[in-house]
Amino acid sequence: MAEYVGAVDQGTTSTRFMVFDHGGNEVGRHQLEHQQILPQAGWVEHNPVEIMERTNSVIRTTMGKLGLQASDLVALGITNQRETAVVWDKRTGRPYYNAIVWQDTRTDRIASALEREGKGDLIRHRAGLPPATYFSGGKIQWILENVDGVREAAERGDAVFGNTDSWLIWNLTGGPDGGVHVTDVTNASRTMLMDLETLQWDDELLALFGIPRQMLPEIRSSSEPQGYGRTTAQGPFQGEVLITGDLGDQQAATVGQVCFAPGEAKNTYGTGNFMLINTGTELVRSKAGLLTTPAYKFGDQPVVYALEGSIAVTGSAVQWLRDQLGIISGAAQSEALARQVEDTGGVYFVPAFSGLFAPYWRSDARGAIVGLSRFNTNAHVARATLEAICYQSKDVADAMEKDSGVHLEVLKVDGGVTANDLCMQIQADVLGVPVSKPVVAETTALGAAYAAGLAVGFWKDTDELRANWNEDKRWEPHWSDDQRAKGYAGWQKAVQRTLDWVD
Ligand code: G3P
Repeated sequence: MAEYVGAVDQGTTSTRFMVFDHGGNEVGRHQLEHQQILPQAGWVEHNPVEIMERTNSVIRTTMGKLGLQASDLVALGITNQRETAVVWDKRTGRPYYNAIVWQDTRTDRIASALEREGKGDLIRHRAGLPPATYFSGGKIQWILENVDGVREAAERGDAVFGNTDSWLIWNLTGGPDGGVHVTDVTNASRTMLMDLETLQWDDELLALFGIPRQMLPEIRSSSEPQGYGRTTAQGPFQGEVLITGDLGDQQAATVGQVCFAPGEAKNTYGTGNFMLINTGTELVRSKAGLLTTPAYKFGDQPVVYALEGSIAVTGSAVQWLRDQLGIISGAAQSEALARQVEDTGGVYFVPAFSGLFAPYWRSDARGAIVGLSRFNTNAHVARATLEAICYQSKDVADAMEKDSGVHLEVLKVDGGVTANDLCMQIQADVLGVPVSKPVVAETTALGAAYAAGLAVGFWKDTDELRANWNEDKRWEPHWSDDQRAKGYAGWQKAVQRTLDWVD
């Protein structure tokens, strides 16, 4: 008898497959990294074939380790790095180009032209997003304009687009032999091509980017009782599993953190940080630099919206200390190094490597370390990196309060960086509210499993999921109001220094 739900989490740096039981507990997992391809400054690509191979491999390994068969899984959920664009030939399954990753800034001219030509407000209003390099629309346009033969193939209906959810689902359900070309509302909402109210592709938006409609996947709910399709006997499950959950990773984490009521929020600390607050069935248009986005749509229930503050560089700033500066040998060491000093000694680090996302949306910003004196050491820079993660989250939390009118009582957190105790303490200090982490910290995969399991009745309703959420750890704020205000004023000054850097 099937008693588990499986979830694939296809992230920016790695892909994992996890199996959960009815209590929302992890039964097993396997995870593999894939290559970050950086052909030139500002460009970030992934190889979609490598991502598919990694996905197949983590599924096979986990199922093998646990001794499970396809029939032991009641359903499968897919969650993914959002915005990253794959265009492939549906006759052969071959990608025309590497996936252009959400962090990639090669489309800055496309984004600024849209603003210059007065199209910004249309995109903001209809899609809930500011024109920016972050989203898929410009990336698809770039592939259509720069890769030989793709436009003709798209017009013929052979070249199709998907974020990595669509790419995975299409492959898992048979690829060129009957693969299903679908996505869900949360992923579709990150393209600049979907109307937030109708939840359908919008012809006027498609025309802005010159994208033929037939390239795009069908938009479905995030949790589908009849499923998007079944995995095939030739695939990594060696049998049929009904795929019933599909949602972008940050929305999945919102579900995994059981933020089902308006005003409930979570912050995920990964490569970047993504804070989402549930705004219910009401579509709130941001005035403070946040994105409006669907949080989830379960079956034929009304869509639930969220406001989102996306920060491009947080955990990846710690990686930068390791890979580019070489001042730490692993992420965990950032905590030990930062603990060698009491404070940053006046140093601020603004890691605006991809410009600044929310709430600034300034692609002309570039990173800066300011406030240095001869007294400063690696330890101050490491501590300033952790503070930068927290100050960026404060920028976003303040914007959320302005837009939603909801004052954050406690911040629910998850993601890799939450293992850094010092960073979480600084987060509570900087925000002045407690920070709380659940026992199951893999909320992204869990959220995808929840969406899939709800669809098939494995979980009855969201109340049942709520009962699975338990606190593991809580950090209380210690800074005085004065210390908090001074620290934040310094941060805001540092941010100003990074703007207008690129002409
Ligand atoms: O919007 C980008 C986001 O979905 C990426 O998340 O966890 O893969 O860095 P992550």
